[in-house]
Amino acid sequence: MERMVGRVLVIVPTYNERENLPVIVERVRAAVPEAHLLVADDASPDGTGEIADALAAEDDHVHVLHRPGKQGLGAAYIAGFRWGLAEGYDVLVEMDADGSHQPEELPKLLHALADGADLSIGSRWVPGGKVVNWPGSREFLSRGANVYTRMMLGMPVRDATAGFRAYRASTLEKIGLDDVESQGYCFQVDLTLRTVRHGLRVAEVPITFVERTVGASKMSRDVIAEALWRVTLWGVTGLPRRLRRSR
Ligand code: GDD
Ligand code: MN
Repeated sequence: MERMVGRVLVIVPTYNERENLPVIVERVRAAVPEAHLLVADDASPDGTGEIADALAAEDDHVHVLHRPGKQGLGAAYIAGFRWGLAEGYDVLVEMDADGSHQPEELPKLLHALADGADLSIGSRWVPGGKVVNWPGSREFLSRGANVYTRMMLGMPVRDATAGFRAYRASTLEKIGLDDVESQGYCFQVDLTLRTVRHGLRVAEVPITFVERTVGASKMSRDVIAEALWRVTLWGVTGLPRRLRRSR
């Protein structure tokens, strides 16, 4: 794998994932043994950060970024990307800590990069993609968010909110991270849009998303509200550009 795509860093953001973290780290280490992991913890009150330190102490492929407090998924990933780019990794992977993204499917994402993609997305909403154990309300929210996003932004992407993805380092360098303001889960849409607007290649790979069995989702009203206003704003400000292109 390394020979194909270079050095891989899997970034795992955590907020109160003490039971999930050791399991996901072990699964990543088994599925892609050469890859390194970076846990980006927002000072979790449940002690996830100390567990991450213990895992890092016994495995030189595991690293930890301690953040001062809960600042959102987007901020945690930006900090993780900066760390990874500075350390010279060639591929930066996003993966949830709760087991929803199966490390065993990571090679598929890396293969898509080897085949020429600049960003590969583990997608629930392409043929072959699946979700296991989601309540109907959550599926409705994700599908609805993607329909709205596609309508507002006109991107040829079925799962723009997906959080299981692999970026080439060059993609992140080209799109730039300095002016990313998205804090919550709309960060995913934000970076997808930047990638598409830069004319870079996005590949969607079908994955099976398995809802967590331990701990709680951090999805909140604030996260949804931020996504709604930002996607609407990006859609409206991007309209002149879309109209120009369609002429
Ligand atoms: N450091 C940090 N800071 N980590 C966070 C924060 C935060 O503020 N908020 C969430 N996380 C971590 C969680 O600990 C977990 O590892 C991961 O981000 C995903 O959080 P969940 O709360 O489990 O997300 P979800 O299952 O509801 O949402 C999934 O679907 C979304 C919509 O498709 C994720 O895959 C999201 O990335 C995706 O956007
Ligand atoms: Mn989850």
